[in-house]
Order: sequence, then C-alpha cells, then structure tokens
Amino acid sequence: MLMKGYCLCLLLQFGRIFGGNIEYDGWANINLQHALIASENPVFTERGNVTIQSLQTGLSTVYQKPLSQTDRVKLRDLAANNEFYQLKSIVTASDGSESVFISSVKACMLAESDLNDILSVSLDYSGKVVTVTLAVASTATCEGAVVPIDKLKEFSTSVYVRHPENGPVPDTITYTQKLEKQAKEKGEVKDNRSFLAKYWMYIVPVVIIMVLSSAANPDGAATGNNAAR
Ligand SMILES: *[C@@H]1O[C@H](CO)[C@@H](O)[C@H](O)[C@H]1NC(C)=O
Repeated sequence: MLMKGYCLCLLLQFGRIFGGNIEYDGWANINLQHALIASENPVFTERGNVTIQSLQTGLSTVYQKPLSQTDRVKLRDLAANNEFYQLKSIVTASDGSESVFISSVKACMLAESDLNDILSVSLDYSGKVVTVTLAVASTATCEGAVVPIDKLKEFSTSVYVRHPENGPVPDTITYTQKLEKQAKEKGEVKDNRSFLAKYWMYIVPVVIIMVLSSAANPDGAATGNNAAR
C-alpha cells in the first residue's frame, strides 16, 4: 500500500520532468499587436511574432523589431498619462485554428521595466492554447511616470508555456473543521465521550443510594452472610 503510493508519486514526478502533462506535442505561432493610444476602440499595430516550436518543451523564438521613434513617443505618453498598454495575441495552432487574446498592463509599469515583459501561454490537456497573458518583470506600482525615451527602444520578452497543473489540492482539514463547526452550531456535534463520562450524573446517585441503604440495613448484609454459609 505504502509502496504503491510511493510509485505513483514517482511516476507523477517523472511526468513533470519529462515534458509536462499535455497529451500531444505541437507548435503555435503568436502574432503580437499592440495599442499605443488609449481609446475605447483601440487600434492595434504590428509588434512581432512568437513561435513556439514545441508546446511540450516550451521552446520558443521571439521576433520583435525595435520601436519606431513615433511609437516610443506614444508609449511614453501612455505611461505618463497612467493609461493601459494593450496587447492582442493572435494564436495560430498546428491544426490551423486561430484564437485571439487581449491582455493589458499599466503602460508606466512596462516603461519602468525598460520593456522587459513576460508572456504566459497556458495550455489545456489537449495542448490547445487557452490564455495568453502579458505581465511585467518589475513589481513597481507606478502612477504615471516619465521614462526617458531612449529606454523605450526594444521589447525584451520572456515566453513561458504553462501546462495544466494537477488542479489545486483540496484543503480537506479546513473543510472538515468547517463542517464540524457548522454541526456544532446546529447542535449536531457527535458525542463520543465514554459511557461513564456521559452518564455519571445518573450513576453516582444510584451508587450513593446503594451504599447508604446497605449501611442503614446491616441485617440484610448479615442475612446474606448467613445464606452464604
Ligand atoms: C510576424 O508575422 C507576420 C505574418 O507572418 C509578418 O507579416 C510580420 O512581418 C512578422 N513580424 C515580425 C516582427 O517578424
């Protein structure tokens, strides 16, 4: 039993080491477009491409051109006005299917990170891309910042391919405690004290009465003795 649990654990561990837990390998191409002017109907312009050669290993290549002078000015203004930078990711999968994801970050965070950003690509069990999210490599919480324009030259993007996890492990202890608490509040708490602990208040008077009555009636005891003889 213990041995079985141990082996299963090892297998899961191997599954994690050797290429994650998606069923099939494949590739994906992501065309990145961004909106550099804050608007209700953002206009997306070409930013670059990410090719994920293998979804299993997460091997990817990023192609991005340096930003034009006009784009740098737009991005600087977006940051200074505390607006959001929006990214549109158009994913083309191995089977030719296309899906679009939009993600946004605060432009000033992106600017303050010197355009170091992180693209997280999540897969489901069949290896299908289910989310593409942009994050920034810095944790600075800015409120509009003017960043020198020469810092906004070129994106340096890390791509992470995320495989489905084995779901969050349910927290059974807290759950059990919660159930017990609810039961207690409803007065349904299970009484597992011993018989004596539960009924001492009935047993003690009976014992006292027996002791008292045998003390008040020594004849009975004597009779008993006679009978035994
Ligand atoms: C990205 O791919 C598209 C379509 O294949 C192409 O038109 C575009 O020039 C590419 N962009 C870069 C920066 O390589």
